[in-house]
Amino acid sequence: MNFVPQWVIEKKRDGGALDEAEVRAFIGGFTSGAIPDYQMSALAMAVYFRGMTQQETAVLTDAMMRSGDLVTFDAWPRPTADKHSTGGIGDKLSLMIAPLAASAGLAVPMISGRGLGITGGTLDKLEAIPGYDTRLSVEAFKRVIAEVGCSIIGQTDRLAPADKKLYALRDVTGTVPSIPLITASIMSKKLAEGAETLVLDVKCGPAAFMRTLDDARALAQSLIRVGQALGRKMGALITDMDQPLGRTAGNAVEVIEAIETLKGGGPADTRSLTLELTARMTVLSGVYADLETARRELSRRLDDGRALEVFRRMVAAQGGDVRVIDDARALPQPGAAFEIPAPRSGTVAFVDARQIGRIVLQLGGGRKATSDVIDPAAGVDRLVQAGEAVEKGQPLLRLLAKDAALAESLAAAAVTAVSITSEPVQPRRLILERVEG
Ligand code: URA
Repeated sequence: MNFVPQWVIEKKRDGGALDEAEVRAFIGGFTSGAIPDYQMSALAMAVYFRGMTQQETAVLTDAMMRSGDLVTFDAWPRPTADKHSTGGIGDKLSLMIAPLAASAGLAVPMISGRGLGITGGTLDKLEAIPGYDTRLSVEAFKRVIAEVGCSIIGQTDRLAPADKKLYALRDVTGTVPSIPLITASIMSKKLAEGAETLVLDVKCGPAAFMRTLDDARALAQSLIRVGQALGRKMGALITDMDQPLGRTAGNAVEVIEAIETLKGGGPADTRSLTLELTARMTVLSGVYADLETARRELSRRLDDGRALEVFRRMVAAQGGDVRVIDDARALPQPGAAFEIPAPRSGTVAFVDARQIGRIVLQLGGGRKATSDVIDPAAGVDRLVQAGEAVEKGQPLLRLLAKDAALAESLAAAAVTAVSITSEPVQPRRLILERVEG
């Protein structure tokens, strides 16, 4: 029987499972333009309501991955591994994880995204470093990985183009929150970059894509199963995203905090998740025998400067100004810094990541429309964390903006982001669940 797109839509609408040839023909036709947007949208809505089996999701992912170029690391001298985060506030982990993993002997081909909504993007953060080029060709990307051990770039037009087209449609047809479609979208891009091992950081909480633990677990399991079905070694952590990670949110400020962490300092939560995720990458890749050894060896690489050295070489190889590593003043500077005093004494009970994300966006650190230009110096720093004692009048955070008027206009919103209590505060659970491959 010949392929007829509406029959495939009808089959999924009525709850059927699509066979491999149908999925591949549909994605092939959509990518080439032979299948119009309205038919792809209808199929996406049918998938939204009817779901997909694991087998269908794996085929959809594979078809989308093969819609463009595949980066390959055949006969590469080091194991290849990457980490993917579903996105959060203050999540600068990629900036530490790529060089740390490379310092331990992995090759890390990391293709990252820009900020989406209130969640920050690794590319925007790296572009705060003057000169850093996120638009390398695949050849230059591979050259940097060969020389340095890691490279972080943006998605090229030739990488999973079916996802680029489909994501734009899903965005305007109410079909983003579908686990098979999210799985195929994330994994088609991540698998096209060629890493043998992939560790996922699935964020969970009000500031994340997945708000509940059940949803986060379902997404993590779906991502892991598809990755394994397509021959990759997979692991995942579900991590808390109701509070920001670290003490900064924005772009240049997050680079500063990443560098502090690569120098062996930085906030405890930031260091801890950096180590946990990188440890899984190295153990799954066979560099270390177990997580305990990995944590110990990787801690040494943060403390003795080996991970920082890889970061320095990556920044230099991608045209960035390496002076930022020793002097934060080489990064873009805000026009104004405005401290938010604590309205009363007590213990910090909670820092609202969603509110911090919205504030950073309005300060200019994120985009309201895709065409917006980010202010790399805008953001929040010196943020208190849950469990810390504060005195009335002591700063809870600093707002960094292009001018004082913009910073002051967000002061009232900033006060409401931090709750203070006189009760004891339970320590935050950073890792909510481990989902093993
Ligand atoms: N990120 C993606 O790349 N795709 C989705 O569908 C959702 C989040």
